[in-house]
Amino acid sequence: MKTYTNVFDLGDLKQALAEAFEIKRERYKYEALGRHRTCLLIFFNNSLRTRLSTQKAARNLGMDVIVLDVNQGAWKLETERGVVMDGDKSEHLLEAIPVMASYCDLIGVRSFARFESREDDYTEKILNQFIQYSGKPVFSMEAATGHPLQAFADLITIEEYKRTQRPKVVLTWAPHPKALPQAVPNSFADFMNEAEVDFVITHPEGYELDPKFVRGARVEYDQRKAFEGADFIYAKNWACPGVTRPEDYGKVLCRDRSWTVDSEHMSWTNNACFMHCLPVRRNMIVTDDVIEAPTSLVIPEAANREISATVVLKRMLQALQD
Ligand code: CP
Repeated sequence: MKTYTNVFDLGDLKQALAEAFEIKRERYKYEALGRHRTCLLIFFNNSLRTRLSTQKAARNLGMDVIVLDVNQGAWKLETERGVVMDGDKSEHLLEAIPVMASYCDLIGVRSFARFESREDDYTEKILNQFIQYSGKPVFSMEAATGHPLQAFADLITIEEYKRTQRPKVVLTWAPHPKALPQAVPNSFADFMNEAEVDFVITHPEGYELDPKFVRGARVEYDQRKAFEGADFIYAKNWACPGVTRPEDYGKVLCRDRSWTVDSEHMSWTNNACFMHCLPVRRNMIVTDDVIEAPTSLVIPEAANREISATVVLKRMLQALQD
């Protein structure tokens, strides 16, 4: 595996899940793979889970880890070519990438959507420059339009907790005071469309996700209808993806708190498990009682981030040996 940005990079999902459960049973089985290898984790944005779980995964595999917070202590980076750099940005990404790459064997990048240009975000301008100019295997730690380490952890969690062979999984939009990227719902849809689940997406009108990720999934605008018979409820906010009205890209179009997942919503389901990638705004996205209920999987889901990252980094290390 040379890059990890979407579900297709994993290939056969059954095989990927088998590797995940192997790692879960024997976390240090591949400790020798990363000897004398260095994993560089570059953060353009904040993180708790990704920062910790990916470091742990790299160490499970015997790697050294370097973490760089670009906005804390590094030179401010220019990302646009052709700019006259007479402002506050001292270094260009086009020099910084090969320099950083010279110190490591694998690179993880976190770079959120900026909401300045839908085209820049949806072409993954920052992540793709790392892929193009680093000469090293690159994995997404949440980019502008995808969060595949999270979605793989979500899939592992669903596989662990499912009660039927083909559970009904519902991705629901929920309100939030700020404009959030579509990376998590996009990748969740990307994975669920390839998994053995009945997948439904529900959101207010105007929040249609990009067709590249929705593919054949059922989209149901009536949240109650979507929840009926669900085995898993996956809540997430996202700002307008600008699919039907590009001028609305990145806007908050709806603040309707009736979309907040509460115990009444959960009563419409088949005693569903509740999921969210975290961090979560309580009583905006989900009420206290739902997130604290025994059916809430948010903690095991976050714990599985170590497992998904270990599988991905293991495959990248194995590819370096080939
Ligand atoms: N779910 C997730 O990626 O969490 P962080 O933003 O804290 O890394």
